[in-house]
Amino acid sequence: MRDVIEIRQAADADWPGIWQSLEPAFRAGETYTYPRDITEDDARRAWLGAAGARVLVAVSTTDDVRTVLGTAKYLPNHPGAGAHVANASFVVGSAGAGRGIGRLLGEAVLAAARSDGYRSMQFNAVVETNERAVRLWRSLGFDILATVPEAFEHPTHGLVGLHVMFRRL
Ligand SMILES: CC(C)(COP(=O)(O)OP(=O)(O)OC[C@H]1O[C@@H](n2cnc3c(N)ncnc32)[C@H](O)[C@@H]1OP(=O)(O)O)[C@@H](O)C(=O)NCCC(=O)NCCS
Repeated sequence: MRDVIEIRQAADADWPGIWQSLEPAFRAGETYTYPRDITEDDARRAWLGAAGARVLVAVSTTDDVRTVLGTAKYLPNHPGAGAHVANASFVVGSAGAGRGIGRLLGEAVLAAARSDGYRSMQFNAVVETNERAVRLWRSLGFDILATVPEAFEHPTHGLVGLHVMFRRL
């Protein structure tokens, strides 16, 4: 039976499940510029506590234990005169990978950012070797505006580019 996935605003009580999704991605160091040895407290501040951030979770509702399978956050990409452009980050944990949850979170973040009044969305640092993410963002309407050469030190590929991706809302 396929899971029923609910996307909703995160609550403080979701943190252990959110961290379960984030930790392997942050430790792997292949997709984000967070320090690979980031502490759980610093990750919590970065994910739940960033100024102006809204956080969503994807939760499996097929059983009584509502497992967090993935999370996304969006926030102003810049303060003040740049605050009408949203930035967003996404992580789906291994238990939820490849089941359409990244796409659901992407669609939910686009809709929520639009209804919050953002005019557009910009990703500042999509690792060019992260083909699954690049393909997903393109399919959700994002274009690659530029690629900053050798801006990311990948643990196995060495220095690779970071895409700046953008779409209007
Ligand atoms: C990128 C990420 C959020 C995608 O989440 P996901 O739930 O696995 O993605 P989905 O299941 O929605 O699939 C997205 C697309 O990737 C494809 N895909 C799924 N598994 C794949 C795999 N193992 N290899 C290549 N492509 C795959 C799917 O076919 C899907 O495309 P489609 O909808 O056209 O069929 C997730 O892989 C992740 O958290 N990665 C680590 C952190 C990260 O990279 N975040 C984004 C930084 S920009």
